[in-house]
Amino acid sequence: MAQTEPRRVEHQLTDKGYVPVYTTAVVEQPWSSYSEVDHAVWRTLFARQQELLVGRASAEFLRQQRAMGMSPDRIPKFDELNPVLRQATGWELIGVEGLLPELTFFEHLANRRFPVTWWIRTPEQLDYLSEPDLFHDLFGHVPLLMNPVFADYMAAYGRGGVKAHAIGPEALANLTRLYWYTVEFGLIDTPEGLRIYGSGIVSSKGESVYCLRDAAPNRIGFDLERVMRTRYRIDTYQKTYFVIRGFEELFEATRPDFTPIYARLAEAGSVPAGTVLDADRVYHRGTGEGWATDGDV
Ligand SMILES: [Fe+2]
Repeated sequence: MAQTEPRRVEHQLTDKGYVPVYTTAVVEQPWSSYSEVDHAVWRTLFARQQELLVGRASAEFLRQQRAMGMSPDRIPKFDELNPVLRQATGWELIGVEGLLPELTFFEHLANRRFPVTWWIRTPEQLDYLSEPDLFHDLFGHVPLLMNPVFADYMAAYGRGGVKAHAIGPEALANLTRLYWYTVEFGLIDTPEGLRIYGSGIVSSKGESVYCLRDAAPNRIGFDLERVMRTRYRIDTYQKTYFVIRGFEELFEATRPDFTPIYARLAEAGSVPAGTVLDADRVYHRGTGEGWATDGDV
C-alpha cells in the first residue's frame, strides 16, 4: 500500500471542537524514532495491565497475547508481529497517524488490515487519553485478532461497515454501537465468571476493575438488536456492559443481512445507555451510582 511520512498528530482543539487532522494514508512505523520515554511508557502500561488482567481478562485474550510474543520491554515492531498474525488468521497490522474516517477504517477491516496508531501517549497521559494510541491499539485490540473466530467477526464487521456506510448515518450509528459494546467494551461469560475482552477496557486501569466489580453499571446478556439500539458513553465509564457467551455468538450475529434490521431499529428507536429493558437477560442490574444524567452519544 502507498505509504506516507509519519507525523505525530493529536486532535487539535479549535473553536469548532476537536478537529481531526490526520492523514488517512498508511505510514511505516518509525520505530527508530521512539524515545526512551516512549519505550518506558509502553513498559509501564504493559506491566501494569498484565498484572491487573490476571483473573479479569478472558483467558483467550491473555493466551493470544503471549502467543504473539509482544515484548514488554520495548515497543514491539509491527514487522515482527505481522508474520505471526498473518500465519494465525491472515490479518496484518498497518501503521496510521490516528483515527481514520469510517469508510477507510471499514475497508481496512474487511481486508484484514488492522490500523494501529504508531505513536504512544506521554507519561502525563498514562491513565487517560481521549483517543486511541499505540498502547490501546496494540495491547488492546491485536491479541484477539489471533483468534480465528474473533478475526472472522472483525472482517465481517468491516464488510458490514462498508454496506452501512452506503445505507446512511442511522445504519452506521447502529453498527458503531455494535463495535463499541463488543470490540471496545465487551464482557464474556466463562465457567470462571465474567471476563473482559473489550479493548477499551483491557487498556484502561480503572475500567478493568470497574466493569466487573462495581455495583453501578448494568451487565446484560448480548442481543444483537438490543446492542445496536443502545447509546453509549465516550466521556465516562460505560453505564451498561453486554456479555457474550462465546466468540461464536459474535460471529453468528453478523451472519444475517443487516438491511432489514436497520429498518426495524429505525422504528424501535434508541435506548439510553443506562436503561434496563424487560426483555433483557440481566446478570447485574446497576445501581446507577455516580452516573452522569446526560451525555449519551
Ligand atoms: Fe479501539
